[in-house]
Amino acid sequence: MCGIVGVLGAHEAAPFLVEALRRLEYRGYDSAGIATVNQGQLARRRAVGKLANLSDALVHDPLRGKAGIGHTRWATHGAPTIGNAHPHRAGRVAVVHNGIIENFRDLRAELSASGMAHETDTDTETVALLTEFHLSQGLSPRDAAERTLARLEGAYALAFLFEGEDDLMIVARKGSPLAIGHDETEVYVGSDAIALAPMTDRITYLDEGDWAVITRQKIEIRDAAGALVERPTRIIQIDAAMVDKAGYKHFMAKEIAEQPTVITNALDAYLTESGIALPEPGLDFRTLDRMSLVACGTAYYACMTAKYWFESLARLPVDIDVASEFRYREPPIPDRTVALFVSQSGETADTLAALRFCKGKAASVAAVVNVTESSIARESDLVLPIHAGTEIGVASTKAFTCQLVVLLILALKAAQDRGHLSDADLAERLVALRALPGLMNHALATEEPASALSRKLSEARDVLFLGRGAMYPLALEGALKMKEISYIHAEAYASGELKHGPIALIDEHVPVIVMAPRDALFDKTVSNMHEVMARGGRILLVSDQRGVADAGDGVWESLVLPEVDPFLAPILYALPAQLLAYHTAVAKGTDVDQPRNLAKSVTVE
Ligand code: AGP
Repeated sequence: MCGIVGVLGAHEAAPFLVEALRRLEYRGYDSAGIATVNQGQLARRRAVGKLANLSDALVHDPLRGKAGIGHTRWATHGAPTIGNAHPHRAGRVAVVHNGIIENFRDLRAELSASGMAHETDTDTETVALLTEFHLSQGLSPRDAAERTLARLEGAYALAFLFEGEDDLMIVARKGSPLAIGHDETEVYVGSDAIALAPMTDRITYLDEGDWAVITRQKIEIRDAAGALVERPTRIIQIDAAMVDKAGYKHFMAKEIAEQPTVITNALDAYLTESGIALPEPGLDFRTLDRMSLVACGTAYYACMTAKYWFESLARLPVDIDVASEFRYREPPIPDRTVALFVSQSGETADTLAALRFCKGKAASVAAVVNVTESSIARESDLVLPIHAGTEIGVASTKAFTCQLVVLLILALKAAQDRGHLSDADLAERLVALRALPGLMNHALATEEPASALSRKLSEARDVLFLGRGAMYPLALEGALKMKEISYIHAEAYASGELKHGPIALIDEHVPVIVMAPRDALFDKTVSNMHEVMARGGRILLVSDQRGVADAGDGVWESLVLPEVDPFLAPILYALPAQLLAYHTAVAKGTDVDQPRNLAKSVTVE
């Protein structure tokens, strides 16, 4: 996901822009650049790779000027080269962009016919060229930008700078978030509040389709129809402690360790003396016959887990889909269906599109999100925050377990509403849930053995994860963590599926990680483990003390977790899965917080 920053300041813009881009590094990128206007002169510096390369370029060839824009690029159209890095420039205008302009090829052909040739492979350059074309027709910068925006189709957050304009920036938002930060003398823009946190906590988010003409003295926001509008200014608390590593080697390690604390925050937000309290307008499951859960990646595995809970505890039928399939499958949405979208960032393009498909069809659209001012949150009827705090590591950890906790609380409320859980039984389950953070602290104590095991796992070419019942989605999540940060090929299967083909993969080179508490399904899983061991496969069993004892000899390695109520096991067992992936990646020396090719939030489809 690209990152955008900008400033109309009282000081040199370049240092602010680079520091603000550094706070957006977590989004993932492969090139970066800035542009400034200095005494009317527009100039830019760009570099491939990490921000340090851009900083070097600026040391050797400084950029002056108090008006500037900056960008970290996660390549969509065109390879990560200096030529394709933003800002893109055409004549008197420079542009930075997050998103995809879907009609850029048509626009490019139109401009070429007018004699305006492209130099790069990017859709963003077309935006700059089109704006320069309108300038060459005699339009003012404001009108040229407005005319350009009217031609664009697709998703964008954009910031424009103009030659000769030391006190003007034009920004626009459609499908990708954009925030405006302000204090008495300066105005800032950024893809999110994290980028602006050191400068201001007064943040105005543009609405979908908004664009704004900004000077140091005035911010003029217009909606998609061109009408002047006011958008609320909020105080967004992103203190520095939330976005630094606090002594950990990686953000991911910090966020794994934070889970007992943030899970407690999530429980405090929803559990009261008398039971469960949802934010307004709440959800009355007595009026609902079906639930549709939609998400991507790790959030989708949280939905898969929740399906077991809603159906077993509340007897509520649940459909689950990855958003990129759901939005094109166009499923029928029966009456009395609640559509629930799970997203850490709240900006995942496929999940947002799936939500928009459900608006007006589902009885209610709800969102389980971490970023409560995100697009998905703003377009939902009900927002269910997960209270995980800012998650910087690209590999989701604390957000996953917080999503599970909120979904479990929702399932328990559904069970109570639908008469499948008495007040006494609910109270008992909430007591067990309240004990979860303490158990998580014990589970984190497996870090040392997990680290030792990871050095062996790091030598594997393929790793399998197995799980049964609600542990199957967790096996999928463990495999995703392993592949996305250690780059080792990892797959997950329902344990019962092994015999239907995957067992052909088993030999002494393939570690098989079995996520299996000593629950009602454990004996069946032991049979699967013996099938693996009989073929020379190496079993790494993650279980409790009784499970490890009952599994008997022949297990290659094991990690022992505290006993836990089976309905809580998928949340607790996420921790060893995260630790194994983390330490395997560390052993392999990969970029744990910003793995290759990945972005923290996929805001393009
Ligand atoms: C998780 O480790 C991955 N980084 C990725 O699968 C992520 O969960 C997915 O892109 C969904 O993101 P979201 O929760 O912000 O919508």
